[in-house]
Amino acid sequence: MSGRLQGRVALVTGGASGIGRAIAARFAREGATVVIADVTTAVREGGTPTHEWLAAEGLPVSHVAADVSRETDCEAAVAAALARHGRLDILVNDAAIGLGKPLLDCSREEWDRVLAVNLTGVFLMTRAAVRHMVTQDPPASAPPDVRGRIVNISSQHGMVASPEDIAYGTSKAGVAYLTRQVAVDYAAQGILCNAVAPGKILTGKTGRAVEPRWIEYSHARTPWPRLGRPEDVAGAALFLASDDAQYVTGENLMVDGGWMAF
Ligand SMILES: NC(=O)c1ccc[n+]([C@@H]2O[C@H](COP(=O)([O-])OP(=O)(O)OC[C@H]3O[C@@H](n4cnc5c(N)ncnc54)[C@H](O)[C@@H]3O)[C@@H](O)[C@H]2O)c1
Repeated sequence: MSGRLQGRVALVTGGASGIGRAIAARFAREGATVVIADVTTAVREGGTPTHEWLAAEGLPVSHVAADVSRETDCEAAVAAALARHGRLDILVNDAAIGLGKPLLDCSREEWDRVLAVNLTGVFLMTRAAVRHMVTQDPPASAPPDVRGRIVNISSQHGMVASPEDIAYGTSKAGVAYLTRQVAVDYAAQGILCNAVAPGKILTGKTGRAVEPRWIEYSHARTPWPRLGRPEDVAGAALFLASDDAQYVTGENLMVDGGWMAF
């Protein structure tokens, strides 16, 4: 049976853990050849590194070491995908870090680091990928007007305030904007650019992410009776990366159990 991403090459940043790991797995199971770009292969929630786990199932998944805040790493990650597989159809910008500090506690260095990874990283990876995508023919099996797809992982935080995390929320607001900007500027060249905005997703993150007061806050904000799973986000990312999403661009798709509807 052929999958929804059969024959496509996808680069997934942050694919070592959490949501990015689930996206890499879902894409590979749908037929994509996947390259994971991450600073580490360690899995925050525990387990075998993503590329080893999926490769052991016979799926074409590999890893490239990259810090998305570094321009040379971003260029090298795209170059690695092209060298290994000859084309790049899908970029998922998932890598991000949190800080958990309000304005008065956030140092200049902390602000710079969060923005460098979460926003500049998306800019650098997207620029490197789109630079190539606009030069390639659409894959034979794809709609003839789609040369490449960008799927950014944003957040509900960025549309509404991220309590006590000014740098993170600001970075995610920037990602939502960048998504629309790229969608508009490169539509004529066949680039679809969308985002998925997760609500509270339980991943392997520790610290603030699992502090009882933030878990309680998330439940209070989420009409759906459970919090999110990485697979919830992966399903939405798959839709936006697949031929099922045509004539959809500049969208920021909430996967938040209704958080933003409340
Ligand atoms: N978990 C949530 O509740 C939630 C909610 C909204 C949005 N998000 C977004 O979803 C995405 C994934 O979140 P998660 O919970 O899976 O996080 P996570 O911490 O489990 O995974 C993040 C991954 O990014 C990688 N990474 C971090 N800095 C990097 C860098 N500089 N270069 C390359 N890779 C780097 C990490 O090594 C890790 O593999 C992020 O963009 C996050 O902002 C998460």
